[in-house]
Amino acid sequence: ALPAKVKIVEVGPRDGLQNEKTVVPTEAKIHLINMLSESGLPVIEATSFVSPKWVPQMADQVEVMKGISKKPGVSYPVLTPNLKGFQAALNAGASEVAIFGAASELFSKKNINCSVEESLQRFEEVMKAAKEAAVPVRGYVSCVVGCPYEGQVAPKKVAHVAKRLYSMGCYEISLGDTIGVGTPGSMTKMLEAVSKEVPVSALAVHCHDTYGQALANILIALQMGISVVDSSVAGLGGCPYAQGASGNVATEDVVYMLHGLGIQTGVELSKLMDAGAFICRTLNRKTSSKVAQATCKL
Ligand code: HMG
Ligand code: MG
Repeated sequence: ALPAKVKIVEVGPRDGLQNEKTVVPTEAKIHLINMLSESGLPVIEATSFVSPKWVPQMADQVEVMKGISKKPGVSYPVLTPNLKGFQAALNAGASEVAIFGAASELFSKKNINCSVEESLQRFEEVMKAAKEAAVPVRGYVSCVVGCPYEGQVAPKKVAHVAKRLYSMGCYEISLGDTIGVGTPGSMTKMLEAVSKEVPVSALAVHCHDTYGQALANILIALQMGISVVDSSVAGLGGCPYAQGASGNVATEDVVYMLHGLGIQTGVELSKLMDAGAFICRTLNRKTSSKVAQATCKL
C-alpha cells in the first residue's frame, strides 16, 4: 500500500545552486528559500557548511542562514562534512544538519577527500557534538546504484553505510542516486538490501533525473513503504564532483504525481511553481520541471 502522506525534502537551494556555473546572488537565494517556505514545504535544505575552495557557490552560507525568514514548523537543515562545518553551522543558527557519506570509495575521495571509513569516523565526531547540542542529524548515502568513477555499486555496500549512519544516530537516511542511473530494477534490489538493515520509516530517496527514471524510481520507493522524498524546485541540481549528473527530480513533478495518487504533501503547487519561475528567471535558464513546462509557467 502507498503511504497516505509524504514528506518532501526540498534540496534546490543547496543541491540545485551548488552546481550553478555563475555565482547566484545571496539575495536571490534568500528570496527563493522564503518563497519555498510559503509553499507549504516542511523541509528546505538551505545551504552547506563546506569549504569555499571546494564549493564556492556555497561560500555565503552564513549570510543565507541569517537572511532567511524561518517559518515556524519548517526545518532548514544544512550540510556539514566535519566538526568545523558543524560548529560554523551552529554559530549561524542552524538547528538541523546533514552528514553525507557514500557507498563508493572513489566518490568519497573526490567529494570529501577521504575514504568511506575515514568519513564515518568524522561523522561520529559530528554526531557526538550534535547530540550535546540536541541537533537532529540526517545522513546521506551517495552513489546508491551507480558511481561516476566505479560504475555499478553493490546493494550490500549501500546497506552497510546506511546501517552505520543509522546506528550512529541519524534519524533519517537519504539514499542518493547521485548520477541518476538507477532504474526501477536496480532501485528495487538496493532498497530491499537497505531495508533489511534500516527501518523503511527512516529511509528517504534522493533521485537525480539524468536518465529520466526519477519518478518511476520514486514510485517504487513509495510502494516499498518509503514516505520521504527529496527533490529540487525546477529540477535544479547536480554535484560538482559527479560530472554529467543532472538535476534532481523537480519538486513540481513529484507533487503533481503524489497528489494524483491521493497522497498528501501539504504543498501548494501554484506557490511552488511561482518559486520555480522566480529562480529560473534569476538564473536565466529554462525550467526542468515537466509540470511547469506543461502549464506554461515559463
Ligand atoms: P580537505 O581539503 O580534505 O579538508 O577538504 P582539510 O580538513 O584538510 O582542510 C583544508 C582547508 O579547508 C582548511 O583551510 C580548512 O580550514 C578548510 P585552509 O587552512 O586551507 O585555509 N575546511 C573548511 N572550510 C569551511 N568549512 C568546512 C571546512 N572543513 C575544512 N566545513 C572537505 C575536506 C570535506 C572540507 C572538502 O572536501 C569539502 O568541503 N567537500 C564538500 C564537497 C561538497 O559539498 N559536495 C557537494 C555536496 S554532496 C552531494 O551533492 C550529494 C548529495 O546531494 C546526495 C546525492 O545526490 O548523492 C548530498
Ligand atoms: Mg544530490
